Amino acid sequence: MNKIKNSNYILLFALLAFTACQNSSNMNNTSDSTATDSSANTSLIPSAKNFQTTINGKQTNLYVLKNGNMQVAVTNYGARVVSIVVPDKNGNPTDVAVGYDGVQPYTQGGDTYFGAVVGRYGNRIAKGRFKLDGIEYMLATNNGPNSLHGGNIGFSRVVWDAQQPNDSTVVLTYLSKNMEEGYPGNLTAKVTYTVLSNDKLKIDYEATTDKPTVLNLTNHTYFNLNGQGSGTILNHSVMINADKFTPVDSTLIPTGKLESVKGSPFDFTTPQTIGSRANDSANQQIKFGHGYDHNFVLNTNGDINSKAAEVTGDQSGIVMDVYTTQPGLQFYIGNFMDGSHTLKGGKKDDYRTAFCMETQHYPDSPNQPNFPSTVLKPGQQYQSATIYQFSVK
Ligand code: BGC
Repeated sequence: MNKIKNSNYILLFALLAFTACQNSSNMNNTSDSTATDSSANTSLIPSAKNFQTTINGKQTNLYVLKNGNMQVAVTNYGARVVSIVVPDKNGNPTDVAVGYDGVQPYTQGGDTYFGAVVGRYGNRIAKGRFKLDGIEYMLATNNGPNSLHGGNIGFSRVVWDAQQPNDSTVVLTYLSKNMEEGYPGNLTAKVTYTVLSNDKLKIDYEATTDKPTVLNLTNHTYFNLNGQGSGTILNHSVMINADKFTPVDSTLIPTGKLESVKGSPFDFTTPQTIGSRANDSANQQIKFGHGYDHNFVLNTNGDINSKAAEVTGDQSGIVMDVYTTQPGLQFYIGNFMDGSHTLKGGKKDDYRTAFCMETQHYPDSPNQPNFPSTVLKPGQQYQSATIYQFSVK
């Protein structure tokens, strides 16, 4: 009798355990960002075959980098970050980078620079002109009267050579020929993405040239720390370690001044939500930028161990810390996003549903003698590094 009772209990227990498992796996199926098993984790990364094609005679692909809980997918088309998967506060894998499911949409329409390495000169050059050693160079004016992010094709719409030496690293190289997009010098650029332990994505940039040129390489990943396509970023909280920023004219070219952030919507020295001041129409700089689209003058003095910025996703608890050797950080909050692109998993790139933290030299430096120089000469080695580190609160 006792034996029968015991085995009934065992059966009941097994049934309860089975039902609990079923419920949790159903829950995991309801949202692509709450899956917990490792196969679902993999499914947040687009299929590599959607990235395998030939563009201008060069093979494109998707490279998946892994270390611990973190996965990053990179394509060699534009050296773009396609996905960054990290755990949220409940341990659920969450993709915090905006991107597409395949290579084709990256090649179509105007460039949104999703995830791309932008160059040769990231950000704007006034009127698409600059002088170097007495010679004037003319660039494509692809952003009103100015040149933006390297011109019509730049580095974001070319196929880089790629090598994946191990599970956590991909090395991308690109030879930008003399006078390509109007820039002098054969420039060899090398970008290395490494996923380090403790959920860090490190980006190392290197370059050499055979003639004097100007160079400003950055990465243009659009982040949403609540998960790509999950809605507004206006409730994310942001700290930027900058006492000054570079105010701009109505075409977003710096005036040349370094202005104190004190008492303005640009003061992020203590954490503030993005939305609390992003529509401050009394502030002319906010009006010019249609919100935040400005370069901050970092207090970090090029020290990669000193924190440049910290952002927290209000729903996910995911925190992103930014470290860099660069002197500036362009903080852009998706003011030109308009829902016209279909992202991974059918999500839309709606207005202000992602932000960028582009570590870089200041915009228009080639025309601004008081800004740190962006000139690279033959025999010099260009080097910079940025780390995006993820954790939870
Ligand atoms: C610029 C924005 C521009 C965006 C394009 C940012 O780096 O500052 O003005 O619209 O790139 O994606």
